[in-house]
Amino acid sequence: MKVLILGIDGYLGWPLALRLAKRGHEVIGIDNLYTRNAVKEVGSDSAFPLPDPEERVSFAKKILDVDITFYKADVKDFYKLHEIIQRHKPDAIVHFAEQRSAPYSMIDVDHANYTFINNLTSTINLIYSIIKVDPNVHILKMGTMGEYGTPNYDILERPFVEVEINGKKDKIPFPKWASSWYHWSKVYDSYNLLWANQVWGITITDIMQGPVYGTRTEEIIDDKLRTRFDFDEVWGTVVNRYCVEAVLGLPLTPYGKGGQTRGFISLEDSMQALTLLLENPPKQGEYRVVNQIHEVYSVMQIAQMVKEVGESLGMKINIQNVKNPRIEKEEHYYNVETNILPSLGFRPKKKMKDEIKFIIEDLIPFKSRLENFKRVVMPKTDWRKGRENK
Ligand SMILES: NC(=O)c1ccc[n+]([C@@H]2O[C@H](COP(=O)([O-])OP(=O)(O)OC[C@H]3O[C@@H](n4cnc5c(N)ncnc54)[C@H](O)[C@@H]3O)[C@@H](O)[C@H]2O)c1
Repeated sequence: MKVLILGIDGYLGWPLALRLAKRGHEVIGIDNLYTRNAVKEVGSDSAFPLPDPEERVSFAKKILDVDITFYKADVKDFYKLHEIIQRHKPDAIVHFAEQRSAPYSMIDVDHANYTFINNLTSTINLIYSIIKVDPNVHILKMGTMGEYGTPNYDILERPFVEVEINGKKDKIPFPKWASSWYHWSKVYDSYNLLWANQVWGITITDIMQGPVYGTRTEEIIDDKLRTRFDFDEVWGTVVNRYCVEAVLGLPLTPYGKGGQTRGFISLEDSMQALTLLLENPPKQGEYRVVNQIHEVYSVMQIAQMVKEVGESLGMKINIQNVKNPRIEKEEHYYNVETNILPSLGFRPKKKMKDEIKFIIEDLIPFKSRLENFKRVVMPKTDWRKGRENK
């Protein structure tokens, strides 16, 4: 299969490129290196130093003997995107090329607008390009479990639900209630894709993925093949951030009461799931919604797990709940339907507790690099006030 990855330079994009290329697929990727620059903008950097994309591609050739084609391009530029799609005529396009930080989207009006313009434009450009080139191309769009929020009902894997209002029944898109501009941009993306599916019959897998954690996949067998790893308060997701706090001797910092519960997935299992979804596309013209999570924990339970693992490695670790900078429920119901991936053969291989140990072990050699970024770990971006001392 020929796969085009939009956002190939990112945390998920790079390991997916390696996985697909290793499985014999032809891989082409586009990235405008936005995340690299935006992480620096908030005073942080990837925990692991990153080679340039061109160097990455040549390391992949040398170490794994795989070919990956890279284009530095902005998916917001319709004509550039379209030219690349026309040139390669991929069978599937993975769309990761979005601004993906909730706190970043809450910094101020410019960051909110950037998030909407980047994320919605990139998705609309993709829709219009494949309508022109071949509407049968499978779009694998990465959404987020955060689109649903934390409803007091089960989160089902279906685009529509039936409702009854004043005695009349109809179907409406599955209700969503996001909790940051970033998450809202993903909701609107999903509705735009669902509508494009109804209009043009485009084949879509819209993945609702939980936060991803981890440093390793089967293909990352050398430091030169590492993917980026973010840990600061703007770009770091909770498990990865706690692991860096542990390595730096900082307290682990659950926000508020720490009862916020989410479905998580390791980097390796995310790669397994994405590969299965690409290799088993939906029927032509189908819009398939998939919930991509493995283990469900509260952020307090994760802090306790990191503490336990860190202490087993000889670290001294405290947990210090901090004022929650976000507007979100700190105690709530959470039940997610996950039938589609298991039906395709998804068998998660990683447990969070085991992976936490590997993350910490992988970070320890980079401790002095991490020391430079200590001040950007504690929360500064407040949902109501924006980012203080930007
Ligand atoms: N990492 C997670 O925990 C997680 C969880 C759920 C969903 N997601 C979603 O998965 C996708 C990938 O996430 P990630 O963690 O790899 O993020 P990332 O920021 O590391 O990767 C995204 C890549 O897309 C690129 N990009 C952004 N806008 C672009 C544009 N206009 N043109 C070209 N390239 C552009 C960035 O430079 C970056 O390399 C995102 O859409 C994110 O919202 C991530």
